[in-house]
Amino acid sequence: MSAETPVGQLLERQDADYRGWWWVGPPRDGWLEGGQGCLVSGDFAVRRAWHERGRPALSPFDGEGIDEAASSPVPGAVLFWPKAHALGEWWLLWLCARLPEGTRLQLVGENQGGIKRVLKVLAALGLGCRKLDSARRCSLFETRTARLALDPEAVWTHFEAEGLSLASHPGVFGHGKLDEGTRLLLGQLPSHLPAQQPKGQVLDMGCGDGVLSAWLARQGRHVCAADVSAFAVQATRRTLAANELEGEALESDVYSALGERRFDAIVSNPPFHQERSIDYGPAARLIEEAPSHLVPGGRLILVANAFLPYADPLERAFGGFEIVADDGRFRVYSARRT
Ligand SMILES: C[S@@+](CC[C@H](N)C(=O)[O-])C[C@H]1O[C@@H](n2cnc3c(N)ncnc32)[C@H](O)[C@@H]1O
Repeated sequence: MSAETPVGQLLERQDADYRGWWWVGPPRDGWLEGGQGCLVSGDFAVRRAWHERGRPALSPFDGEGIDEAASSPVPGAVLFWPKAHALGEWWLLWLCARLPEGTRLQLVGENQGGIKRVLKVLAALGLGCRKLDSARRCSLFETRTARLALDPEAVWTHFEAEGLSLASHPGVFGHGKLDEGTRLLLGQLPSHLPAQQPKGQVLDMGCGDGVLSAWLARQGRHVCAADVSAFAVQATRRTLAANELEGEALESDVYSALGERRFDAIVSNPPFHQERSIDYGPAARLIEEAPSHLVPGGRLILVANAFLPYADPLERAFGGFEIVADDGRFRVYSARRT
């Protein structure tokens, strides 16, 4: 199968033997998924696609799995430069900490996504760099891993919002500040969550840094937080721990890891971006499948930019809904399962 993405097509035309390499943070691409080497990705949906094809796929937070994979020789790694440059820098630190010094490290990305910035980033870390190729509006650079004084763990920070300490990591939504839509949603939760079930199970779908989960757990709710991003799940666990709160946080592509579980309420500030493009897919699935993950009488409460087209899917899934807050920019919707 031929490469499907511009970055995949640039790699495909290299006269390189990528057997045993690590593919770090790539997009979905059938050429990669049908090829050689091991995936390392924070994206649960991409890892699941690789697993379904019988291919090795690891999260950077899977300590034992990573140690085991790194214990056999890894000839090199290709880092797909992410939209969030600070996350790209984290991956560089992480790869230098995990792979033996001198391992070949290629960096690939779209020019409009800022791949050329890696030259400055590598120089600041004292890593040399050479350009290997450019085509399809993408560029490919190569360096080698080195022992760096910076610890990837040091990238984690905390900030305060709503009286909570929130963990922050590059690439996790709202990095370092509370989203205005989330703030509007929080203002509605006391009056719109089923008060008769204060100890009920609430699902925080697309938990990000865990602000909604921590806020709900502080109210005494049993919280299950889910996100497709391993970075977000780690952030939520750190947020809960920093506030001495209990809760479960798991990786899931919308409801994929939740089986038949049903909740008293689902709260969400749903995603509508995938890297640089708009993608309503996860939000549409979140709404369509919500009734089958709610107990009778359970509610879906979500906030969205006012321009997003969520009224029709809510009407189809629930047969009706209310707009319980609207500040012109954001709307909070509430829909009840009969
Ligand atoms: C708008 S952010 C909201 C984050 C947090 N709840 C808040 O209010 O600040 C949406 C979140 O959905 C997550 N997400 C994106 N696609 C997803 C999917 N397919 N399944 C689950 N979560 C997803 C993103 O990683 C992101 O953390």
